Amino acid sequence: MSWFTDLYQSAVGKKAVMAVTGIILFGFVLGHMIGNLKLYEPGTYCAYLDASGTCASKPLPYLDAYGAFLRQVGAPALPASGALWIVRVVLLVAVILHMWAAWQVTRLSQAARPSGYVNQPKRHTSYASRTMRWGGIIILLFVIYHLLDFTTGTLNPGFQEGAVRRNMLASFSVWYVALFYIVAQVALGFHLYHGLWSLFQSLGWNSPRFNRWRSTFAHAFAWIITIGNISFPLAVWTGLVR
Ligand code: HEM
Repeated sequence: MSWFTDLYQSAVGKKAVMAVTGIILFGFVLGHMIGNLKLYEPGTYCAYLDASGTCASKPLPYLDAYGAFLRQVGAPALPASGALWIVRVVLLVAVILHMWAAWQVTRLSQAARPSGYVNQPKRHTSYASRTMRWGGIIILLFVIYHLLDFTTGTLNPGFQEGAVRRNMLASFSVWYVALFYIVAQVALGFHLYHGLWSLFQSLGWNSPRFNRWRSTFAHAFAWIITIGNISFPLAVWTGLVR
């Protein structure tokens, strides 16, 4: 058996898989939130100006122009949208490995639990891991809904391909959809906080001197992403963005 299979079969190996895929997913969520801030940029973007300085293309809201840019970016030896498809495949593989490793770590820790455990006081770690499991399931359901809402448009009655801002407004104008997004972002916030905190432990960066920095980092990033993401449905729902 190779060292790699040996490592993967150990709890340490599975936690490393969770940590590395978690970093990829965390990077995506952060970048995605920053990109969505284009919702707040007023006015429109013109891709082509003619010699007289007049707009020779259809002016687009900044969020739509950003979406169009992401869809058009190619990659070496790949057609337009090549980069988007690479990102989609990497994300899909990361999500599958992240969930698989989480399931395996849970099974290992259940197998290692002493039989008299049920009568013992609840430990913080078991509470945190239960929250992580349920949080993970809520986030997965959210992502499935979200793709049907904004990527395929199946669940968005006002959907128009490429009209990202319009689609967002159509979706978040419905109060229960906006509320669902907000609840899912709170679940994501808890998941990110605990995930970021554990990440350092899984990678072996764990010392009393480092723990204060670790906690501040996990809190700060979880709050930034949660507040940013909640602001979008809230801004549309309250009429701040029309
Ligand atoms: C309230 C917060 C969020 C808003 C307003 C939002 C908005 C959007 C929009 C408008 C699109 C479609 C972009 C396009 O048409 O090109 C999109 C795609 C997507 N979003 Fe979000 N999003 C949010 C949160 C999240 C979160 C938390 C996740 C992951 C946990 C996520 C994962 C995705 C994915 C995977 C796609 C598909 C990208 C693709 O392959 O085309 N989003 N989002």
